Amino acid sequence: MARVRVRQHVNPLSNKYQQSISIPDWSQVYSNLSAPFHLDLGCARGRFLLQMAQKNPHRNYLGIEIREALVKEANQIKDEYNLTNLFYLSGNINHFFKELLASLPPNSLELVTIQFPDPWFKKKHQKRRVVQSEIVAILAQFLSKKGQIFLQSDIKEVAEEMCSRFLDNQQFKPLKSEIWLSENPLEIMTEREIATINKGEKVYRTILTLF
Ligand SMILES: C[S@@+](CC[C@H](N)C(=O)[O-])C[C@H]1O[C@@H](n2cnc3c(N)ncnc32)[C@H](O)[C@@H]1O
Repeated sequence: MARVRVRQHVNPLSNKYQQSISIPDWSQVYSNLSAPFHLDLGCARGRFLLQMAQKNPHRNYLGIEIREALVKEANQIKDEYNLTNLFYLSGNINHFFKELLASLPPNSLELVTIQFPDPWFKKKHQKRRVVQSEIVAILAQFLSKKGQIFLQSDIKEVAEEMCSRFLDNQQFKPLKSEIWLSENPLEIMTEREIATINKGEKVYRTILTLF
């Protein structure tokens, strides 16, 4: 399939991205709705989840991405692979997150990944960033007790800010005593992670859990 050309960045604060979205009937999407869920926020083309879903058929994967054209293409590809444990949803995560998590089976959310989420590294664009305190509070409410949040970024300030937002909420703690992990514990790297490592640049990553 030809790679679609889409805008590099969209502004999540613009009017276009303030609407809520219609949430699918998950029982029509996933063949086993009782499997644990892994949610990837800002999944872009979704190739990371495509590989994860193929490797782990007994987990459900859900990718959220604001750029609709990428989501459309990612869903077409997962259909070509006949995957019934993977779906991509398009929308601004800061607008429908609570509604979305409330629609999943209770206690099913076991892993949330937020990886290289932001083109918004300038301080004046902080409000456009994905990890806002509201998102963290909603995750504290819906993450399963043994659930994990995996964060990574190539921009130190963005990684530190994401991590602080979780720690400030006071319901989250780092999984390990060393906050920053030198290795990625996941079996697949995202496109952005591969590009960062190929440039020889550092990745800041951490895992958080509930107290
Ligand atoms: C730099 S890309 C990284 C993509 C992928 N996670 C990776 O590591 O390769 C960040 C993605 O997050 C998406 N994004 C940013 N803000 C978002 C929001 N509020 N809601 C949903 N997606 C968002 C962007 O459109 C972009 O595709």
